[in-house]
Amino acid sequence: MKKIPLLIAGLLLVSISTMAQDKKPTAIPADVEKLLTQYACLACHKADAKVIGPAYAEVAKKKYTDAQIVELIYTPKPANWPGFPPMAPMKHVPKDDALKIAGWINSLASSKKQKI
Ligand code: HEC
Repeated sequence: MKKIPLLIAGLLLVSISTMAQDKKPTAIPADVEKLLTQYACLACHKADAKVIGPAYAEVAKKKYTDAQIVELIYTPKPANWPGFPPMAPMKHVPKDDALKIAGWINSLASSKKQKI
């Protein structure tokens, strides 16, 4: 009868790891998170929730190209987001970094679709 506690422990472990996996789609990869922190984007944006600016998952739904997102980081168009205050242009973000952020924002749309 000693097997039952083990079975329960096993089930618990499985459910804990499934819970951790559920959170994966909105987790920010470490290299992107570093950039978003460095350029203070996270002060106004979250991956999946509105803060001062729109959630990046919402931006992803607009189906911009990576290059268009880079352009919008440098020259925001507040008219795209009625009801939000205007975002300040972030021209100090190097293009390589902006492209990396843009690629990640767009990946939020495809990872939602492919959600298992
Ligand atoms: C002070 C707050 C603030 C900061 C800091 C900020 N944003 Fe924004 N962002 C906003 C707001 C508000 C909007 C919506 C209004 C607008 O586009 O002007 C927005 C919109 C956006 C959009 C959507 C553009 C569009 O037209 O669809 C992108 C992409 C974006 N931000 C990326 C970034 C990135 C990347 C950074 C960091 C380099 C950043 N933001 C920093 C507030 C901010």
